[in-house]
Amino acid sequence: MAGMIITVLGARGTIGSRLADQLEERAHDVRRVSRRSGVDARTGVGLREALRGADVAVDCLNHMALRAATAEDFFRGTAQHVVRSARSEGVRRLVCVSIAGAADPAVNRLLGYYRGKAAQEQVYSTSREAVTIVRSTQWYELMDDVLRRASIGPVSVLPTMTVAALSADRAARHIADEIDASVEDLQDRTLTLRGPQTATIREIARTILAARGSIGGRRPRALVQLPYLGQGIAGGGLVPADGIVDDLTLEDWLAAGPSS
Ligand SMILES: NC(=O)c1ccc[n+]([C@@H]2O[C@H](COP(=O)([O-])OP(=O)(O)OC[C@H]3O[C@@H](n4cnc5c(N)ncnc54)[C@H](OP(=O)(O)O)[C@@H]3O)[C@@H](O)[C@H]2O)c1
Repeated sequence: MAGMIITVLGARGTIGSRLADQLEERAHDVRRVSRRSGVDARTGVGLREALRGADVAVDCLNHMALRAATAEDFFRGTAQHVVRSARSEGVRRLVCVSIAGAADPAVNRLLGYYRGKAAQEQVYSTSREAVTIVRSTQWYELMDDVLRRASIGPVSVLPTMTVAALSADRAARHIADEIDASVEDLQDRTLTLRGPQTATIREIARTILAARGSIGGRRPRALVQLPYLGQGIAGGGLVPADGIVDDLTLEDWLAAGPSS
């Protein structure tokens, strides 16, 4: 349904910016919201105004906290503010962009950030609003951040992490399809997204380094992997068993250039 008013929260971020572009290409009226635009989802300042008259609100907010208490505080608190404000402004559907497997205690035991995502999903799924939870696997673009965090000089010590990554542009396209399909639906929905290949992030890093020579400004000479985030993450707990399988391979994404 073209011509909806859609508030994208976190619209300056990796997925939020791509999703906002996709939705505008489909002739929706998009409100791009973040602290830069004067809206703070943590305090609630500006949120009701940002949601007033909107048909759909999409939560693409992020705060990269490794401690569980900090991550839970951010994701639970922002989700509560969004749900409350959306309810009082009559928003018809809420979409929460989350991570496949992150809510599973066997996966998130050692990663506080994922516990935050679990808290966020819980707020939305128990909100009694019409909600879509997007369970996406990791994006190819995430590797920049992973390498920056895991590198010391010429050595990168990566967590052993098995993923079925896809490109953020393709994830945005599937989320936009879901928004178009779901607005008349009153039921809760789940959109599960994965890419075509299953690999460890070390294998992905090797492929990107071979093609581009660097990742996130790093040129590691040694890529070590250790299961320091636990066996759930190492052994495939982040790989969804079902859902949409996007067909853009890592090699095709690399061949197409930085924004595919
Ligand atoms: N990376 C992946 O591979 C992956 C995979 C699946 C799902 N996800 C999920 O997708 C979501 C978005 O991730 P991302 O990587 O696109 O995020 P990101 O690039 O870090 O962007 C985060 C956005 O949130 C905004 N923001 C942060 N705190 C805010 C606040 N208090 N109030 C209003 N806006 C705020 C930021 O803008 P300002 O700084 O201007 O406020 C920015 O626009 C996350 O929940 C993440 O868990 C990520």
